[in-house]
Amino acid sequence: MITDTFGRVHDYLRISLTDNCNLRCFYCMPEEKYAFAPAAKLMQVDEIETIAQLFVEHGVKKIRLTGGEPLVRKDAPKILKSLGKLDIELAITTNGIRVDEMLNELLEANIKTINISLDTLQPEKFLKVTRRDLFHRVRNNINLLLKHNIRIKINVVIMKGLNDDEILDFIALTKHNNIEVRFIEFMPFSGNQWTSNQVFTLHEILVKVSSKYDVIPVEPEPNDTSSRYIIDGHTGSFAVISTMSQPFCDTCNRMRLTADGKLKNCLFSKDETDLLGALRNGQDILPLIEHTMKAKAKALGGQFSGVFENIDASKLENRSMITIGG
Ligand code: GTP
Ligand code: 5AD
Ligand code: SF4
Repeated sequence: MITDTFGRVHDYLRISLTDNCNLRCFYCMPEEKYAFAPAAKLMQVDEIETIAQLFVEHGVKKIRLTGGEPLVRKDAPKILKSLGKLDIELAITTNGIRVDEMLNELLEANIKTINISLDTLQPEKFLKVTRRDLFHRVRNNINLLLKHNIRIKINVVIMKGLNDDEILDFIALTKHNNIEVRFIEFMPFSGNQWTSNQVFTLHEILVKVSSKYDVIPVEPEPNDTSSRYIIDGHTGSFAVISTMSQPFCDTCNRMRLTADGKLKNCLFSKDETDLLGALRNGQDILPLIEHTMKAKAKALGGQFSGVFENIDASKLENRSMITIGG
């Protein structure tokens, strides 16, 4: 078991497969021109397999593949095949663009739930946010997954003045579809120009949804990052990931491996451990993993506390979101 000094058991590993993406969401990429990591710096299929296996031997029960966009990696089918054989729950977070091309591989890897990032239901706004005209592709792929009875969570990063006017439109999607819509409070990362007045909070979201519906809270699953709700008569549900206004670090069970093989003990940790470098040098990486997790801060990477309105994003030391994977 991989534990920290607060007794939290870490049995969930998020592996970023690449820092590349087929979209260009303004809040995810750094402002300056971004050079994607060269292929040789990324973990290769056998390296991902070796590292994942070691984590599984030490108690990991769930692995989520992230990016950038995990499905742009040419060898994504090989990685799905290899990790699909492990005795774990395999999951993926994707922008949904290549889901149709990869459907068989996703099904064969026994992936039961797919988290799809989609911040707007308006094609013109999609173009503005992602700088790519691919809204209908994503929307059609959501329908394709529903047809195959794959559980879907739609991740919607809510930003004040950008898409808070679409909250009820997203809720309407849950009426007849078995979809969980998850509204995410906007978080600060290197280069994403976060300011506290762009955060639309859990409370504000609940006020908005309650203006039209009776909202019923659902008992949370252990280690859930979101507060979940149902609405009478709706097939699907909705949830809110409230990192900024109500963090949920006490029950955290997550570890993160970046595409270049660095272990982060928290989404907001500034320190990283180079597992890939150590593996390539023939070192035993288990002590490095244990040491990194023992250094985990109680909350939010130890980088901020108190009310989010007081955060000075320029003082945070972290990567950009595209290189962490969420
Ligand atoms: P499940 O495994 O279905 O619970 O998904 P998930 O929410 O862990 O993963 P996903 O990749 O869909 O991420 C959705 C949002 O939650 C993103 O904005 C992530 O950055 C955020 N998130 C995921 N894990 C954590 C975490 O440990 N802490 C915080 N603060 N946010 C997280
Ligand atoms: N704040 C909150 N969520 C974010 N994501 C990307 N950047 C941010 C941010 N700054 C979300 C993506 C994706 C998930 C992995 O993280 O939309 O759904
Ligand atoms: Fe865990 Fe860090 Fe997320 Fe808190 S912010 S839940 S400690 S990963």
